[in-house]
Amino acid sequence: MVSKRDPTSQEIRHFSVTACLVPICSLYGAAVTTVEGVGSIKTRLHPVQERIAKSHGTQCGFCTPGMVMSMYTLLRNHPQPSEEQLLEALAGNLCRCTGYRPILASGKTFCLESNGCQQKGTGKCCLDLEENDSSSLCRKRDICTELFVKEAFQPLDPTQELIFPPELLRMAEDPEKRTLTFHGERVTWISPGTFKDLLELKAKHPEAPLILGNTSLGPAMRSKGHFHPILLSPARISELNVVSKTNDGLTIGAGCSLAHVKDILAERVSELPEEKTQTYRALLKHLKSLAGQQIRNMASLGGHIISRHSYSDLNPILAVGNATLNLTSEEGTRRIPLSEHFLAGLASADLKPEEILESVYIPHSQKWEFVSAFRQAQCQQNALPDVNAGMRVLFKEGTDIIEDLSITYGGVGAATVSAHKSCQQLLGRQWDELMLDEACRRLLDEVSLPGWAPGGRVEFKRTLVVSFFFKFYLQVLQELKKLIRPFPVPNSRHYPEISDRFLSALEDFQGTVPQGVQRYQSVDSHQPLQDPVGRPVMHLSGLKHATGEAEFCDDIPMVDKELHMALVTSTRAYAKIISIDLSKALEIPGVVDVITAKDIPGTNGTEDDKLLAVDEVLCVGQIICAVVAETDVQAKRAIEKIKITYEELEPIIFTIEDAIKHNSFLCPEKKLEQGNIEEAFEKVDQIVEGEVHVGGQEHFYMETQRVLVIPKTEDKELDIYVSTQDPAHVQKTVSSTLNIPINRITCHVKRVGGGFGGKIGRPAVFGAIAAVGALKTGHPIRLVLDREDDMLITGGRHPLFGKYKVGFMNNGRIKALDIECFINGGCTLDDSELVTEFLILKLENAYKIRNLRFRGRACLTNLPSNTAFRGFGFPQGTLVTESCITAVAAKCGLPPEKIREKNMYRTVDKTIYKQAFNPESLIRCWNECLDTSSFHNRRMQVEEFNKKNYWKKRGIAVIPMKFSVGFAATSYHQAAALVHIYTDGSVLVTHGGNELGQGIHTKMLQVASRELKIPMSYLHICETSTATVPNTIATAASIGADTNGRAVQNACQILLKRLEPIIKKNPEGTWEEWIEAAFEQRISLSATGYFRGYKAFMDWEKGEGDPFPYYVYGAACSEVEIDCLTGAHKKIRTDIVMDACCSLNPAIDIGQIEGAFIQGMGLYTTEELKYSPEGVLYSRGPDEYKIPTISDVPEEFNVSLLPSSQTPLTIYSSKGLGESGMFLGSSVFFAITDAVAAARRERDIAEDFTVKSPATPEWVRMACADRFTEMIPRDDPKTFKPWSITVA
Ligand SMILES: Cc1cc2nc3c(=O)[nH]c(=O)nc-3n(C[C@H](O)[C@H](O)[C@H](O)COP(=O)(O)OP(=O)(O)OC[C@H]3O[C@@H](n4cnc5c(N)ncnc54)[C@H](O)[C@@H]3O)c2cc1C
Ligand code: FES
Repeated sequence: MVSKRDPTSQEIRHFSVTACLVPICSLYGAAVTTVEGVGSIKTRLHPVQERIAKSHGTQCGFCTPGMVMSMYTLLRNHPQPSEEQLLEALAGNLCRCTGYRPILASGKTFCLESNGCQQKGTGKCCLDLEENDSSSLCRKRDICTELFVKEAFQPLDPTQELIFPPELLRMAEDPEKRTLTFHGERVTWISPGTFKDLLELKAKHPEAPLILGNTSLGPAMRSKGHFHPILLSPARISELNVVSKTNDGLTIGAGCSLAHVKDILAERVSELPEEKTQTYRALLKHLKSLAGQQIRNMASLGGHIISRHSYSDLNPILAVGNATLNLTSEEGTRRIPLSEHFLAGLASADLKPEEILESVYIPHSQKWEFVSAFRQAQCQQNALPDVNAGMRVLFKEGTDIIEDLSITYGGVGAATVSAHKSCQQLLGRQWDELMLDEACRRLLDEVSLPGWAPGGRVEFKRTLVVSFFFKFYLQVLQELKKLIRPFPVPNSRHYPEISDRFLSALEDFQGTVPQGVQRYQSVDSHQPLQDPVGRPVMHLSGLKHATGEAEFCDDIPMVDKELHMALVTSTRAYAKIISIDLSKALEIPGVVDVITAKDIPGTNGTEDDKLLAVDEVLCVGQIICAVVAETDVQAKRAIEKIKITYEELEPIIFTIEDAIKHNSFLCPEKKLEQGNIEEAFEKVDQIVEGEVHVGGQEHFYMETQRVLVIPKTEDKELDIYVSTQDPAHVQKTVSSTLNIPINRITCHVKRVGGGFGGKIGRPAVFGAIAAVGALKTGHPIRLVLDREDDMLITGGRHPLFGKYKVGFMNNGRIKALDIECFINGGCTLDDSELVTEFLILKLENAYKIRNLRFRGRACLTNLPSNTAFRGFGFPQGTLVTESCITAVAAKCGLPPEKIREKNMYRTVDKTIYKQAFNPESLIRCWNECLDTSSFHNRRMQVEEFNKKNYWKKRGIAVIPMKFSVGFAATSYHQAAALVHIYTDGSVLVTHGGNELGQGIHTKMLQVASRELKIPMSYLHICETSTATVPNTIATAASIGADTNGRAVQNACQILLKRLEPIIKKNPEGTWEEWIEAAFEQRISLSATGYFRGYKAFMDWEKGEGDPFPYYVYGAACSEVEIDCLTGAHKKIRTDIVMDACCSLNPAIDIGQIEGAFIQGMGLYTTEELKYSPEGVLYSRGPDEYKIPTISDVPEEFNVSLLPSSQTPLTIYSSKGLGESGMFLGSSVFFAITDAVAAARRERDIAEDFTVKSPATPEWVRMACADRFTEMIPRDDPKTFKPWSITVA
């Protein structure tokens, strides 16, 4: 949070900012509050910190300080905010673990009491339970709906907040305004004190940019290599912040932040009659969705306008609103229009180098004038628009004759584009259907976009050009009717009523604050209070996450003689390395060495998967060598100077289609078969065949890959601090790379800032390369990947292409199913074979189909190797199965849920691989989900809605799930723990699992507490270390808490057995007394616990086995609404029922379900990886790759744990829930396709469209084909090279 004294109002203003974009010099005179300054576990917690932790709003905790600061800033400005303000404050923060619901829940405790949604009328919310509510869950008395006790929170006391430092206040009041100059190594920052000085400086340094918010300059300097030796900062110039209101318009200083502009416009809109505020309201609409609040707090109006980004959300509106720019230089002032020529950057219409933009004048609109803004992005919030537009029409007074018309578009060219010619040609026309048709044709002609246009999505963008105009047409028509009807004008037209069915085109989806209920079974009333098992205990590190005191790998302070490493990666997809020239890099000051394959003393990975490339590269992003330098910046600068020459090799393969063509596979086909599929196909009523494409997914853990390797002086020992799910694998890899025994290497994992499978295999690569650097230089090496490199190098979820053939009877009973899947494995094997196996094993999901054939292959392509990811193939593969069901339903004319029910396992049975199981809980989850979601009623309401609305459609889907947990090998389930009791009675627990945010350490202490019968406060976990528990298995496959819990239990039971005689002798004694006595009697107070593993095996030859210890069952129902004209959707409601059996910790388990669900929703709706035709990943950061934000959470989001469910196998009858929720995100996908199908039915287009995930706005819009999609020009793909390729 940055606090400054506003020179105009003299008030202290607090605003949240994006720290990485704030230049340190810009903070002169400002007070900065970080999470450490807000509160501390050592002194006093701030209520925001306390509440986010106790509401279970932290999992890995990496995002938590940011969340705390956004909320804290909000409360500094509004001690009792509204829920809408809370949502707005958090919309710019990302969290990959929690699914946001608990974070929001913590913030809501500060808000004014909400009255609920009022949907039940009489002031009641739809979530209020009523006596006669039909849900069986609601009726049960032992069901809890609270995960924390709000009443126990300390109150917020604004008087206790830090004051603005008086020294800074004095500085701000100092009338003498000197120019400040800061000289850096390469850059000089000059901050003039007066306007006159600024103009003088600008005249002296015309090339120097003005730096305001740095949100445009900063990213360009960071990732595009832009360099400015002098920066002029006008932050202290009050003239740039002046706002003046006149009778005909509003002048806003160019230095005002966009957040301030939003407030100014909102104020003006509330003061003026509606007709005068058309432009202001259009600007306000876009200001709500432009970036997040942090960026809006920093970015200035002037910077926004002058940057002239083609995606600018404000420039198109300012241009049609006839805004003018007030320019000033030493020569004087002048005005220029914010015209299309200015936006195109024509020198004649631009600023002169010595001029600055002082302010912007935006005139009022007038009667008979209408201004609108349109925007479509990959998601509602925090996403740059694909296309946006500003449109204005002025009619001859009292008529519908167009007197003036301006239309500008963003996102469809290198700059904001004006459709000036089309507009001119439409002057004098009446506002009617004929005009609409002609306008669309002309617009498409004028705003033409070539097939190869950068950014891709060309046909979608073309469709938006006309869809937006259609929306504008309808909006204006509505307004005209209102204006003309009361004053019938001679010769004016009679307006046909717009049918109610078409009015839905006009409404935009509004951001709504999510609501929801979490239900779980309370513990037995006889359970001792001290026993924490089954209770919603807060994450052990929750409070430390919230205060920033939780230490992640890169928080470890710099160690003596530490050096930094940066990686050099291939820019070619498949090529021979001809030469590597390091000379220029080694000349850079601070550079110590460059590590290449030649420096590896042991093995360089495997033959097919090298740590550092030798001779040839197999993908863009493959690591070739690594620079070691004194600072991170020097190392990064040096990698730019390394010259590598390549010779391209062939064939280069990126797509699954090409891999199949070239027979390029990583491993043999995996196959399972049952019954006689060919015979069955001959006896069925109908057969459908189809294809499904599922895109890949980036892990996007908040903490990127990082490692710190510290070589010791003795015996080649190494200490490695690494963010990994598998420290033993890092240890082993470093050992073989350095050719030293494993016992010299100790890996430490305190906590991991999110893993999701992405930190199982890869951290070993980074650990080994850093270790080579440490060995060669003798220095500690720190290697921290930035987001771009992490996304480029590490790979993610496998993209999948599936083909199915399904035979069924007319009543929907499926008799035969043949599925063949191909996954894109990338250039090395990694986990691709295992993923293929799991995919095939899990494909049947919840269905009993007698005749089945599942085949799967992993394709070898020239992309970075894909790897493990939450769900391990299940989320992709099962989308194929569920798509089959939907296709069968369409053919039978039945709803998909009927087909699902008809084909679901019903009784004790065997899976395709002959593993016996009882589907009772599956059926219970399904029925509970139908029940709690009032599915059947809502299905009817959806149909009613769809009958009444043409341009908006709703869809609803309910999906069952049978998710197998664990690895298909017994040895992978073994786990160990080490428990020490110290003489003061305190207990140190160590086990083989890693804390990834999933709360494993919390659960382990709950287990130890129950077993040793002592409060959790006696227990502690320090870290996971290969020195305390050796030979561990990766924390993955949802089984970590299960297996390690059994090991902890075992250790505690051994210890308790040893203590038994002492306790018997002194039953009234205290724990401390017993421990003291045990020590006196020389009883060992340390024990190793061990769990030998669940039996699991799979015989692929026979296609039989018991590969999984148990299944997690669940069901989810989601409802969405889509905008057929833009492809946008909103999530109306989701209900999840999950069979957790006896949850060890319902808060953690519900958190896992919610987090996985939202991550799954991202996979199926917004997360789209884009590759260039040369195999370069474009989407390498949050700008291009859209993980869900808080605005994506369903408006109503309910999660229930199935009550009274038991499993004898696992610890305390609990189930592992780490992954399963991921697939339930597909209920949103199927709800979207349900809505699209409704649109297509109405438009009489075939329902069997190709299923493609993610269901992006582009896919939805193009699938809802209509007159606008028909009118756009289509390109022959053979005639140009596309901007991006599809690899699934
Ligand atoms: C994460 C993120 C998300 C974003 N999302 C969106 C979005 O959804 N929609 C959208 O439209 N934009 C978006 N933006 C872009 C943002 O709106 C612009 O970057 C911002 O408005 C630029 O303002 P600034 O003050 O930061 O400019 P700076 O970076 O400080 O400066 C930019 C340029 O403007 C010049 N300049 C600044 N002020 C003056 C002046 N008074 N006179 C002369 N020249 C001047 C500077 O010389 C410089 O060349 C996003 C940016 C980020 C970082
Ligand atoms: S808790 Fe938010 S990213 Fe992990």
